[in-house]
Amino acid sequence: MNLNEIVGDGKNMIETTLLMIKPDAVQRGLIGRIITRVEEKGFKIIGIKMQQLTESKVEQLYDIHLEKPFFPILKDFILAAPIVALAIQGPSAVKVIRTLAGATNSPEAQPGTIRGDFGLNLTKNIVHSSDKVERAKYELSILFNENDFFDYELINEIWIKG
Ligand code: CMP
Repeated sequence: MNLNEIVGDGKNMIETTLLMIKPDAVQRGLIGRIITRVEEKGFKIIGIKMQQLTESKVEQLYDIHLEKPFFPILKDFILAAPIVALAIQGPSAVKVIRTLAGATNSPEAQPGTIRGDFGLNLTKNIVHSSDKVERAKYELSILFNENDFFDYELINEIWIKG
């Protein structure tokens, strides 16, 4: 599937976003519980890929943070173990997945959010999610190939579309 077809155009409310399960969550055995939250909300997972990132991929994924003082710490952390990349599709997916993830700084994240329930750290904050449709398109293109995306119907789709 072509990324242009799946990310959404800002008018159609069906968007596709990236949720990346970080090494801390993978090593803590939280993959299933995080995916369950995405599925229970009603979203469709159209791509799922465990992968060990390379330095180059981390630098591409976090290009906007390359010059930040915390970047070396962030890079070492992301390289510490595999991540699981999820391509998630549904109504207002970018915004809603960020709401499910909770505040970036885990100690400030509300209970009920992924970071609020599982995280206690700013760097080791369990997940990453894209903050805009265009950014989702860019980040998905780093972690997925076009043939990693799958088009299928969820049987509950008529109940979750606007
Ligand atoms: P994420 O949503 O993956 O986007 C960038 C990441 O950088 C962020 O989550 C945090 O894990 C990390 N981060 C942001 N600010 C800081 C900071 N001041 N010190 C350390 N890590 C940070």
